[in-house]
Amino acid sequence: MDYSEVSTLVHPLFRVSNFLSTQSNEDLINEVYCGLTAKQKYISSKFFYDEKGSSLFEEITCLPEYYPTRIEKSILKTNTQKIIGEFEKLDIIELGSGDCSKISILLDAIPLIKMAQIHYIPVDVSETAILKSADILSLKYTGLSIHGLLADFLKHLYQLPCDGNRLICFFGSTIGNLDRKQSIDFLLNLKKLMLPGDRLLLGLDMVKDKQVLSNAYNDKQGVTALFNKNILNVVNDIAETNFNLHNFEHLAIYNEEKERIEMHLKALDDLVISSKLFPEKVLLKKGETIHTENSHKFSKEHISYFGSISGLQIKETYTDDKQYFSVVEFEF
Ligand code: TRP
Repeated sequence: MDYSEVSTLVHPLFRVSNFLSTQSNEDLINEVYCGLTAKQKYISSKFFYDEKGSSLFEEITCLPEYYPTRIEKSILKTNTQKIIGEFEKLDIIELGSGDCSKISILLDAIPLIKMAQIHYIPVDVSETAILKSADILSLKYTGLSIHGLLADFLKHLYQLPCDGNRLICFFGSTIGNLDRKQSIDFLLNLKKLMLPGDRLLLGLDMVKDKQVLSNAYNDKQGVTALFNKNILNVVNDIAETNFNLHNFEHLAIYNEEKERIEMHLKALDDLVISSKLFPEKVLLKKGETIHTENSHKFSKEHISYFGSISGLQIKETYTDDKQYFSVVEFEF
C-alpha cells in the first residue's frame, strides 16, 4: 500500500498526488510505546509536525538565534542566476518543501516568459503545506505548472517524475536530521534515480562555534522549547497518554564528537505515564530524558565524502562570509 498513489486532487491551477497511506492508529501507538520503553527513551521526530508544531517551526525560522534559514535564503538570493543557469525545460523538485519561501527566491529570478518551461514538484508529508504553497505559487507565477506530491521522501523517491532536466532541492539541512548512515543511504538512492543533466541542491548547516550552535536551539524566547515540548501534546492526542508539559525541560546539547545537536525532554520529577492503550505504565526517573531529534552538522570533509561515496560530482559549493551554511550543487 505504501507504494502506490492513493488519490489525486485536481485543482484548476495545480495537481496533488497522495502517496501516503495513513499509518493505522494502532501502529502509531505501538511505535510510541516502543520508543518510551527503549533504554534511551525516544519519540520519533515525525510527531513534531501537527498544526501547532508546524507553526512553531515557522516561528523558529524567524528567530534571531536560528541563523540557518536566514543564511540559506541569502545564499540562494546571491547565487540564483548561477544555480538556475540556462534551460529549455526545467523540473524543480523540492523535497520537504514546507512553506514556499525558498523556492520563491529561485522562481523570482526567472523571467515570466520562461515560466511555462518550468514544472515545480513540491514533495512533503503535510497536505496543508503543499496546498498552501501551490495556491500561492500558482497565483504568483503565471504559467508555472505545479504537481505536488504528498509523500515521504525516504520511501517514495522513485515516484519523482522525470521528463526533463531536473533540479532536486533539499534545503534546510534536513538531511542532518537523519543519522549519518541514513543520510548516505538517502544519497545513494537518490543517485540511482538521477539521470545525466539532473542536479541536486543540498542545504547543509556547517560545524561551527559551539555557542552559536547551542544558541540556535536554545532561543531566549523559548520557542524551540515550546516546539520540542509540543511533541508530548501530539503523543497525548494519539496515544491518550497523560504527559504534562510542565514536568519537562527542553534540552538541546551540542555533541562535539558526533558533531550534532541532540534534543531531549528531561523529566523534572519521577513520573508515571499511563494510557489505557499501552500494555503497561511507563516510568520516568527524575532527570531521565526522552530523545526527540538530532541535527547533524557538516564540514568540508563531509561534503567531499558525500560526493565520493554517492558518485555525484560537486559542481559548486555556495556559502556565506562566515561559512555558517552551505548550499552544495551536485551533478550526475
Ligand atoms: N533541519 C532543521 C535543523 O535541524 C530543522 C529542525 C528539525 C529543527 N528539528 C528542529 C529546528 C528542532 C529547531 C528545533 O535545524
